[in-house]
Amino acid sequence: LRLAVLSSGRGSNLQALIDAQRAGRLPVEIALVGSDKAQAPALRRAEESGIATLALDPKSYANRAAFDADLFARIAGHRPALIVLAGFMRILDPAVLAPWAGRIVNIHPSLLPKYRGLHTHRRALEAGDAEHGSSVHFVTAELDGGPLIAQARIPILPGDTADALAERLLVEEHRLLVASVASIAAGRIALAGSQVLHDGSPL
Ligand code: GRF
Repeated sequence: LRLAVLSSGRGSNLQALIDAQRAGRLPVEIALVGSDKAQAPALRRAEESGIATLALDPKSYANRAAFDADLFARIAGHRPALIVLAGFMRILDPAVLAPWAGRIVNIHPSLLPKYRGLHTHRRALEAGDAEHGSSVHFVTAELDGGPLIAQARIPILPGDTADALAERLLVEEHRLLVASVASIAAGRIALAGSQVLHDGSPL
């Protein structure tokens, strides 16, 4: 399965995909890593692994739609079968998403439908939740609102801070994303209309 991965920052989830692929645990080829931040460590990680990179600056476009259109045209040129949003911190134009329905996924650090958007760790703490987690979902026009693929859960511990929670969750996010992409690559999970089809095998 050919992948394009988009990241705005650190890229530890990208690294998890690279490492799993290299270890023979993930049958994918990462064709492209793209970013809206030229300095994103994710781009350096890709370069170090010999993966093609693309950095586009939103400020050099007239508007959001123009940026998104160019980004997705360039991604399409690499012919990915699946686009993975892994810490890509932009809302995408529904017009560019439509042709990719069922072929674009996002990892979001909350137990969706709880806490769409930003500051999810802090919000889970402030709400007094007993557990927190991360979700991988198909991307639709609704921010963090597309059909769920899988979730990982961790307990919230006494004295937890947002940073501590984020750090503990990150380990689980890496596993969750690799397992989710592996299931899609194997055809065990797919989107049909607005329904996620799952063959019932464990992630
Ligand atoms: C992860 O917590 C992911 O859920 C969220 O952004 C973070 C990305 O981390 N969307 P990294 O850049 O992959 O290290």
